Amino acid sequence: MAQVEFKNLKKSFGDVEVVKQFDLTVNDGEFLVLLGPSGCGKSTILRMLAGLEDITSGDVIVGNRIVNDVDAKDRDLAMVFQSYALYPHMTVYENIAFALKLKGMKKPDIDAEVRKAAKMLELEPLLDRKPKELSGGQRQRVAMGRAMVRTPKVFLFDEPLSNLDAKLRGTMRDEIKALHNALGTTTIYVTHDQIEAMTLANRVVILKDGYIEQVGTPEDVFRHPANEFVAQFIGNPSMNLLDGKIERHGEEYLVKVGNETITLPQRFHDKIRSGQAVRVGIRPTDIYLRTNHIDHQQVQSFNVKIEDKELLGANMLLKAYLGGQKLLVETNVVDIQSDVVDIVWDLNELHLFDKDNGRSLATLD
Ligand SMILES: Nc1ncnc2c1ncn2[C@@H]1O[C@H](COP(=O)(O)OP(=O)(O)OP(=O)(O)O)[C@@H](O)[C@H]1O
Ligand SMILES: [Mg+2]
Repeated sequence: MAQVEFKNLKKSFGDVEVVKQFDLTVNDGEFLVLLGPSGCGKSTILRMLAGLEDITSGDVIVGNRIVNDVDAKDRDLAMVFQSYALYPHMTVYENIAFALKLKGMKKPDIDAEVRKAAKMLELEPLLDRKPKELSGGQRQRVAMGRAMVRTPKVFLFDEPLSNLDAKLRGTMRDEIKALHNALGTTTIYVTHDQIEAMTLANRVVILKDGYIEQVGTPEDVFRHPANEFVAQFIGNPSMNLLDGKIERHGEEYLVKVGNETITLPQRFHDKIRSGQAVRVGIRPTDIYLRTNHIDHQQVQSFNVKIEDKELLGANMLLKAYLGGQKLLVETNVVDIQSDVVDIVWDLNELHLFDKDNGRSLATLD
């Protein structure tokens, strides 16, 4: 096991800088997830760590060793890819055994290692099959087995589950988590799936255009997003953001959103100024129908017109407008007859962002 450090890491392809100033320490034994939209540089960072891509500048440190110029095979890392990358002509057993054979390990020792991994991953009945005779989930387990037997210092995963259907993804997610709990190996996991990130990570790194937007625990990035990008990227459906302007009336601060007025709680007062352009953030799941809301302390209510409804299963997603701006409401009331409803929200659930730079002015308590 080992700590991994990235120091001022940069990567350019030709003139295009795709990783800009990446600084991060991954703790020994940590499960760290790199999360971000397509093209933000996740795979490039992982590939630089693995030694599959040259570093333009900066350092990558595994344990206490700078590995910038160390060969991929000597870095003691094991990578699992989206495409599995199994050897098609080898059986499951041979695929898992391959790296150990290369190392010159003795046959009985190899056998013990392969069987141990196969047992953990429930691959024992499949050891004689070829990859083409396996389902996607089984192939992915073989890829994980192959990485496991190498007992690497660090596991690297690049979207390992994105070729699987939703149900299998859930199962494999649980397996990866159990594996990490059992082995405790430092793990860096790339995904653009926020559910994977939230359920697996000790900490999440949210990337955009080669920059780190925020590093934090799953709870942190959900409850205390550093900026509008993180606020909208984490959480489904996305957080509502309403454009408005701050007005001060005596001791009270308000946000004018079209012809509606949102009251701002005390905790915001020392962070804002009159006339400031802001965005008010509220998650669709933090808005309630007035008839249905229970026991919130500081509520404000509005009358809104519903433009559209979408049944999500147990919940209903309402598309409404507030002060002329779109507002999503997710409610567990599914039999709504009227087109006009009263909604309420708890002032404690409000976020506030500076409209000019997108930075959070205040999040949740
Ligand atoms: N070999 C290459 N040559 C030129 N540009 C590249 C190369 N590899 C990646 N890029 C570019 O670098 C940027 C980051 O790519 P990267 O593969 O790291 O993104 P990603 O975050 O993994 O995206 P995805 O979620 O789609 O896998 C992209 O704009 C991509 O087009
Ligand atoms: Mg990628």
